[in-house]
Amino acid sequence: MMKKMFLMFVYLSLCFCCLMGVFGDEVKSVSVMEGDSLTLYTDTKLQTDDVIMWRFGPEEARIAKINKEKNKILINDTVLDGRFRDRLQLNNQTGDLTITNITTQHTGLYQIIIKGNRETSYRFNVSVNARLPVPVISRVSSQCSSSSSSNCSLLCSVLNVRDVSLSWYKGNSLLSIISVSDLNIRLSLPLEVEYQDTNTYSCVLNNTNTNQTQHLNITHLCQTCSHTTGLTFVHKVVICCVAVGCLMIVALILIFWSYRKYTNTQKHVQTSEQEITYAEATFHQKQRCKPRASVETNVVYAGVMRR
Ligand SMILES: *[C@@H]1O[C@H](CO)[C@@H](O)[C@H](O)[C@H]1NC(C)=O
Ligand SMILES: *[C@@H]1O[C@H](CO)[C@@H](O)[C@H](O)[C@H]1NC(C)=O
Ligand SMILES: *[C@@H]1O[C@H](CO)[C@@H](O)[C@H](O)[C@H]1NC(C)=O
Ligand SMILES: *[C@@H]1O[C@H](CO)[C@@H](O)[C@H](O)[C@H]1NC(C)=O
Ligand SMILES: *[C@@H]1O[C@H](CO)[C@@H](O)[C@H](O)[C@H]1NC(C)=O
Ligand SMILES: *[C@@H]1O[C@H](CO)[C@@H](O)[C@H](O)[C@H]1NC(C)=O
Ligand SMILES: *[C@@H]1O[C@H](CO)[C@@H](O)[C@H](O)[C@H]1NC(C)=O
Ligand SMILES: *[C@@H]1O[C@H](CO)[C@@H](O)[C@H](O)[C@H]1NC(C)=O
Repeated sequence: MMKKMFLMFVYLSLCFCCLMGVFGDEVKSVSVMEGDSLTLYTDTKLQTDDVIMWRFGPEEARIAKINKEKNKILINDTVLDGRFRDRLQLNNQTGDLTITNITTQHTGLYQIIIKGNRETSYRFNVSVNARLPVPVISRVSSQCSSSSSSNCSLLCSVLNVRDVSLSWYKGNSLLSIISVSDLNIRLSLPLEVEYQDTNTYSCVLNNTNTNQTQHLNITHLCQTCSHTTGLTFVHKVVICCVAVGCLMIVALILIFWSYRKYTNTQKHVQTSEQEITYAEATFHQKQRCKPRASVETNVVYAGVMRR
């Protein structure tokens, strides 16, 4: 009877300890940004005979261990396919664990078990927030050709995002906002500004945790385009040279042609046979001139089209 009661007592105690171990310790919630360093503090000073163990995730993978008595520190780099490789630092006085350059893969439950005079354990619920991409502001290209408008049409866009808001701000006031919940390959929001506008505009991408801002530079985005609608200096020089060259060739041909005509009239007194020969020569000359001139014209057009 006594034996049964004793066993019962042991059983209940074990259960209690078990419950304390698994559910009794507090869970600290920690939230960090991707790329940051995170230190999980134990708030204890390790005793000379303590053994501590850090575990991670549902598999309770043993990622680090300190044996104070044997003065041994062990960081397991191979655990979980090297997910923690070169990222873990362990403070041998306190047992604090530091994860450097943390990624979303390190989201999860961390547990430290300290075995000494008594066994204690703490848990940390770590969530790592992915960084948002910086939105990109670009000019709507079709606007470049219509020089009539004094406005500059812009688009702020971002690729592959979900659960975000994209907004345009003028100074601190919100101009427009678009919010999406599903995955968006390309999310964009338009804005129209005047060339002379001196206000500060910015495009902001945010989710519940973080945001990214891109400032608009009207001078940079809107006026480079208006420059390219005209011809650049180099283009102008090239076209000028081609035109001058063409004119000179035409002039030379004309001079040559008039010269031949002149000599022809001089020889007019000679036989009719000879005259036919010369007339043919003049005709050939004309034929050669024309295609050449048209080739030059093509070059001019190509120069204009290629801007
Ligand atoms: C590290 O962890 C892996 C997987 O859990 C295990 O196989 C290996 O023995 C551990 N290494 C050490 C030194 O504890
Ligand atoms: C504990 O860390 C200190 C410096 O942080 C170092 O000097 C000492 O050697 C370390 N002890 C062990 C056992 O690694
Ligand atoms: C941080 O981790 C990422 C991904 O694992 C890696 O590409 C990057 O180079 C790391 N940065 C530093 C400073 O170690
Ligand atoms: C950890 O936090 C997440 C949300 O950040 C929550 O869904 C999860 O239930 C928490 N886990 C524990 C064991 O507290
Ligand atoms: C973005 O921030 C605004 C307030 O700054 C907030 O109302 C909105 O819910 C946030 N967007 C998302 C997707 O969390
Ligand atoms: C130019 O933009 C302003 C807003 O910046 C707008 O009020 C106006 O209607 C626009 N004009 C044209 C011609 O698009
Ligand atoms: C962006 O986040 C910072 C803090 O991370 C906050 O101070 C700022 O107000 C946020 N900006 C917007 C537009 O939500
Ligand atoms: C805007 O762009 C112009 C031309 O590229 C540059 O000179 C100027 O410094 C930029 N302004 C800002 C505030 O970045």
